[in-house]
Amino acid sequence: MTIDVSSTKGSEDAAGSASSLATTPDSLWNRAGINIAYRLRQVSQSIELATMRRRLRRLGAGNVYSIPTWTTRWELNALFALASACPPGAVALEVGSYLGASSCCLAAGLARAGGRLVCVDTWQNDTLPGDPHDVFAEFERNVRGLRASITPIRARSSEIPAADLPEKLHLIFLDGDHRYEAIHAEFELLAPRIVEGGVLAFHDAIAFEGVARTIGEALTSGRWQFGGHVDNLIWLRRVRWIVPEHHPPSHATRHASR
Ligand SMILES: C[S@@+](CC[C@H](N)C(=O)[O-])C[C@H]1O[C@@H](n2cnc3c(N)ncnc32)[C@H](O)[C@@H]1O
Repeated sequence: MTIDVSSTKGSEDAAGSASSLATTPDSLWNRAGINIAYRLRQVSQSIELATMRRRLRRLGAGNVYSIPTWTTRWELNALFALASACPPGAVALEVGSYLGASSCCLAAGLARAGGRLVCVDTWQNDTLPGDPHDVFAEFERNVRGLRASITPIRARSSEIPAADLPEKLHLIFLDGDHRYEAIHAEFELLAPRIVEGGVLAFHDAIAFEGVARTIGEALTSGRWQFGGHVDNLIWLRRVRWIVPEHHPPSHATRHASR
């Protein structure tokens, strides 16, 4: 779900200034309508979050919304949905796990059907604000409910031991180093391992030129199609090659039949 706070606020402001100019019954109805719609949206969002929290708790990730992260709750829910849609026994890989918020959602979705998640991170807060320090113990604590479905690889994405890289992946989530050279290299290394119809998700496409450029290159290659987006999470789907059942009529035949 995309929460467009700015447009809601914009509507309220617009309604507010309009009503200071005129308080006709029509404008009062408009303001009441906008207010009711806004409240209903808040209620539906609270219900959705409570439902998700219950589902995640049952799967061993009840703590997920309290793990510090830059990933919004709506993005976390979308990651859970993407992982849940993977086939039984699916393997997913995440670059940039940090304290485990996105890892919990991905692993919970995969674990429902016996899948597993490979988490790649240095756990030294690379590229994050502040001094480097070791957060692996905190990650381990936060993901303990799903630990059996998670394989951590403590390395830079450029230094993953070849033997640890799964041959086939159904889902990849990139949320590590957002600079072009780094994310482009991750794309080159990992994306070819995604099965047809599999998903490649990127965090922080907005405002990070390296991420946006990599997504653009993937789309222009013709091998990926746009999958969807929630807040600042965008995902692509590896194109499934569709073999036509019949040969399409040739240009000449089409011309002649007119
Ligand atoms: C923004 S945080 C990830 C947040 C996490 N996905 C979440 O939802 O909470 C970025 C993480 O990427 C890791 N990182 C940065 N560059 C990396 C690289 N080249 N290889 C592996 N991990 C990297 C950092 O150590 C950090 O933990």
